[in-house]
Amino acid sequence: ALRLNSLDGYSRFDGPVVLIIMDGVGVGSHDERDGVYVANTPMLDSLMQEPLTMTLNAHGKAVGLPSDDDMGNSEVGHNALGAGRVFAQGARLVNEALATGEVFRGKAWSELMGRAEAGGTLHFIGLVSDGNVHSHIKQLYALLEACADQEVKRVRVHALLDGRDVGPKSALDFILPLEEKLAELSQEGRDYRIASGGGRMITTMDRYNANWDVVRYGWNAHVLGKGRQFGSASEAIQTYYNEDAAITDQYMESFVVVEEGAPVGTIEDGDGVVFFNFRGDRAIEISRAFEEDDFAIFDRVTRPNVFYAGLMQYDGDAQIPKNYLVEPPAIDKTLSEYLCAAGVTSYAISETQKFGHVTYFWNGNRSGYIDKDLEIYEEVGSDLVPFNERPWMKAAEITDKVITQLRGGKAKFIRLNFANCDMVGHTGVPEAIRIAVETVDMCLSRLLKEVERAGGVAIVTADHGNADCMWTEKKGKRTPMVAHTLNPVPFIVKDFSKANVLAKTGVEGAGLANVAATICVLLGFAPPKEYEPSLLAISKN
Ligand code: 3PG
Ligand code: CO
Repeated sequence: ALRLNSLDGYSRFDGPVVLIIMDGVGVGSHDERDGVYVANTPMLDSLMQEPLTMTLNAHGKAVGLPSDDDMGNSEVGHNALGAGRVFAQGARLVNEALATGEVFRGKAWSELMGRAEAGGTLHFIGLVSDGNVHSHIKQLYALLEACADQEVKRVRVHALLDGRDVGPKSALDFILPLEEKLAELSQEGRDYRIASGGGRMITTMDRYNANWDVVRYGWNAHVLGKGRQFGSASEAIQTYYNEDAAITDQYMESFVVVEEGAPVGTIEDGDGVVFFNFRGDRAIEISRAFEEDDFAIFDRVTRPNVFYAGLMQYDGDAQIPKNYLVEPPAIDKTLSEYLCAAGVTSYAISETQKFGHVTYFWNGNRSGYIDKDLEIYEEVGSDLVPFNERPWMKAAEITDKVITQLRGGKAKFIRLNFANCDMVGHTGVPEAIRIAVETVDMCLSRLLKEVERAGGVAIVTADHGNADCMWTEKKGKRTPMVAHTLNPVPFIVKDFSKANVLAKTGVEGAGLANVAATICVLLGFAPPKEYEPSLLAISKN
């Protein structure tokens, strides 16, 4: 069993430790394109001057990604925060499994090959970009090449368009080369092509049950061949650009590729299907639609008998999906497990769009409670609109609920995520980003007053940057920067209890993985020895 030892020389205090995650708030360039800098943020500005304030690395190798050119994201960020150390993440594990050929030696791959040999089509559904947050196009290429090598006759790709982790109108940069690649591979009797697709926010990639219609549109396009018809994926994209100058890739309507009026690649009995995203949050719902026998969330019309595999397993607790090509990171000994074993009560809250971030990602990609008697998870329902139209989102409601906890609840550890700066940051609309940042600042100041009243300790940080860069500029022309950034994030500790004298430990190159041990210290425990070191210590004087 996991065990936490008490910390020598530590004085208990009444209030809780409150971790406030400002999703998408990095420390940026401090100029006009830095949305955090240009917003009016009196609370954050003063916190940045506090003696216990520092910045943390939140991207690249510091969070288990292949290289330091990889921006951070919420999955790897919350994994690192909640597990206290860095695990090689999906992006890296898949690259390695492709390089060693391990992908092709497992049971799932041979099942897929079996389907192909028996005359079935192999379908690859997923996000087509090099964003490296949910997927990478090079990994898709490697899978397609392996199909050709192994004489798979018929392959169909169902291409979800990104425009969120990459440039907002970059779809053709990926789809044209993919179409070319598929044409090249279509030799010696092979027939490989794109069959359907659509923008990721409209097609297939919903998360946390926010809007199942998105999955239904995807199912209709990929499986049933229902949707707006085009002669090719690139033609669909070009047409959408021509029809609406303001459209961006992530919001493009689902499409179906047809020939002589008939869809070229519906999904049929006997086929194999690979969902080639490695990240789980937006892969779980479509996997459920393929796998569940009793499925009542939307009418599937038909449910073909296919062999379905994820590139990874997306939820280890719920075993979604059952079959997968690459073993996911084995994230164990999470802070939640330790705190539950020590009998510490906790409360986790966010709105729908980030609810799984503070539960599922925080707990190492497990969806359930660890100990229901000690934990409360609370979700505030997100709006169903483009978030630039409601940049305040549910920050005030989350704040209200945390305040209720602070006044009457029993939780000794509270964690919350404000989605605003990330979700609005992904729209790239400067005037909305400003409101998002200011909303979070206002909520921060309400929360800190209450943490003070409760005699607790507040930690303010972020999982990665986003709002801290709103556009890129080339030859005087601005392009919205909707993706995350490579910037470090703030790490602020405001100790209202004054029960202990806290000092920085001076860890060099600190990152998000150092936060869990720091929380242990603030709660009066010696951090587990496998954790990255605490950023603060109780000084005994
Ligand atoms: C998304 O899924 O919305 C983006 O690809 C990544 O955003 P997140 O990592 O902040 O959730
Ligand atoms: Co984001």
